[in-house]
This record gives sequence, C-alpha cells and structure tokens, in this order.
Amino acid sequence: MLDQLFEPMVLGGQTLPNRFVLPPLTRSRAQEDGVPTPLMAEYYRQRAGAGLVISEGTVVSPQGSAYAQVPGLYTEAQVEAWRPVVAAARSKGAAVYAQLWHVGRQAHSCVQPDGCPPLGPSPIAIAGWEYRSPDGPVPFEVPRELSHEGIAEVVTQFATAARNAAAAGFDGVELHAANGYLFDQFFNSSSNQRSDQYGGSVENRLRFLFEVIEAVSKVLPVNRIGVRISPSSSWMDVSDPDKRSLYSALVRGVNERGLAYLHMVEPGIAGAVDAQTDPNAIDSAELSELFDGPVIVTGGHTPQSAAAVVGSGSADLVGFGRLFIANPDLPRRVRHGAELTGLREEGLYAGGPAGYTDYPELQSSN
Ligand code: PHB
Repeated sequence: MLDQLFEPMVLGGQTLPNRFVLPPLTRSRAQEDGVPTPLMAEYYRQRAGAGLVISEGTVVSPQGSAYAQVPGLYTEAQVEAWRPVVAAARSKGAAVYAQLWHVGRQAHSCVQPDGCPPLGPSPIAIAGWEYRSPDGPVPFEVPRELSHEGIAEVVTQFATAARNAAAAGFDGVELHAANGYLFDQFFNSSSNQRSDQYGGSVENRLRFLFEVIEAVSKVLPVNRIGVRISPSSSWMDVSDPDKRSLYSALVRGVNERGLAYLHMVEPGIAGAVDAQTDPNAIDSAELSELFDGPVIVTGGHTPQSAAAVVGSGSADLVGFGRLFIANPDLPRRVRHGAELTGLREEGLYAGGPAGYTDYPELQSSN
C-alpha cells in the first residue's frame, strides 16, 4: 500500500520522483539580514529525497518578517546565497519551490524597519496569542491599516520576490496564504473589516490574493505558482462565520487560474503544532473536489495515512514536517521499512547544527 507514495507524478510540467513533500518549516538559520547560510544548504541537501521541496517561509520584504534569522528574497545578497541551497535541494531530482511569506499583523514594531507597528488589512490586533519577542512574550499591536498604495507595494514585493526566486534557481513559488498571515488576514472577517474593494464580500476579501497571483504570473508561468491555505484553522485569531463558503470560493478561483497546486494544512493543526480539531472543520477531501490540479495535504500524517489519502485520490502529495525534520532521508526509510527517529525539541528554531543537521541518515548497508 505504501507503494502509492513512490509513484512519480507530474507537477508544473516537471516529473517528481515520489509523493513526499518537505513542507515549509521555519528553522531560523539564516543571517540576521535574511541571507541564507551554508548550514541551510546542508539541511536541504539531507532532505533532497522528497519529490517536492518547499522552502521555509521566505519573506518578501523586511516589513513582512516577524522574526530574526528568517530568510528573504528581496536583496541581491539573498538571491546569491539561495543558489547553492536550491542546488542542494534538487540534488536528487526534487522540484524546489520557494514559499513566499508576508506575516502582516503577526510582526511587531521591535522588528519593523521603521519601528512602527506592523501592517495589516485593518487596525485590529491579534487577541488571544502573544508575540515571541527577544525579551519574552508581549501582546500583539494594533497594525497599521494598509492603504491602496501600500497594498500595491506588497503586490509588487511578491512579484519581485518571485522573479528573485527564479533567479536563485527555484522551479516555482508557493504563496503562504495559511496560518493567519497577511493573505489569511485579508480572507477572514475577524481581521478584515475594510469597507473598500478589499473587504466586505468574500470576493473582495480574496481580491488581494488574486492580485498577487496575477502579478506573479507575469514573472513565472502560472503552473509554477502554488497556494497554501489552512481552511480549518483560527490560529492567530483569524475567524469567520462561514469558512466553508470562504475557502470554497478561494479554491474555485485558484482552480480557474490553473495553478501548480493547492496545498492544504489539515484540520487539527494550529500553526506548527497539533490542536483540537474544530467541530466545524472542513475536510481537505471536500475542498480537493473543487480543484482539478495537484493537491498537497500536510499535518499529522504517518506514511500509512499518507498512502491511504493518496490511494483515495483526495490528495496527490503529502507533506511531512516533523517526520522530515527528524528523518532527513524519510522516503528511503519508508521504502526500506526502517524505524523512524523521534523529534527532539532542541534546535527546532534557531541555533546551529544541533537539532537541525545532526539527525542520522540510514547507513547505506540498510
Ligand atoms: C512558526 O514559526 O511556528 C510558524 C511559521 C509559519 C507558519 C506556522 C508556524 O505558517
């Protein structure tokens, strides 16, 4: 049954060797200026056995970043330093996509270049969560409402970052429209109370995403643009009375445009951790029905559950975050029925090689 995970498939005109995805995982090993490091190349080289490698969230501008040591794709030095990292990630035949990220109101004035509060669709602070500042948790701030010029500038930043991604050797990009970050803040009515063409109706709340897709498709083929969403998550205070209508409309709109793939975070995941599944959760299979192209699901899967999902046809590819952190050669281990290593808390975010590049690979005799 696990054979299904080893069937090649075509995505964006490229043949992927298997159905394993290294999903975007924030590991905070870039330099303070967002320049990728040689240690990152080693990390991605170790995990290059995936069929599809998606980079960790990579910010499109300094305003789009919430934390230090997250990589960017907005300076020449960042593009240069990504090249060896991307080459390492594709060394075993994977397609390699850059996840493009703007955190919106999840940032804080202490990391904004001008020291002002972060940007968001509406001046509504995140309630119920705290920002992880270097001095400990602090309340989130009321964001500055993006003006029309501000929105146009962010759209341009995404297109520029996509052009930079291609220059660095990435095959495509994934727009991070999940987990309560900027796109998701526009989608959900709890964080978007605008009365202009970017707020109100579902169509208006989706407008910013579709403007970015339009702009990015001028610099990359549209079948090299993926979108990641978390339809069942209210993590970081993004809620809406009708998420089903909202995300169904989103998936229909994405489908019409012929994107590379739809990537869904499974219900039961809140950001980076497991959570209680919402009683109103939307089954990924339900949304996948609305999408004709490749579908990726990520969150809490075992190789067995992944094979079942692929076998059922409701997804084509499965992301394994925590398993891939602890098992750099995950596909090979699964193929050989080898034991899987457990995840350590050490070094999940920031630090050096410990908990990052020191997880063992299977010995070649196995
Ligand atoms: C995290 O840093 O924990 C994190 C980053 C991006 C996400 C979710 C969680 O989409």
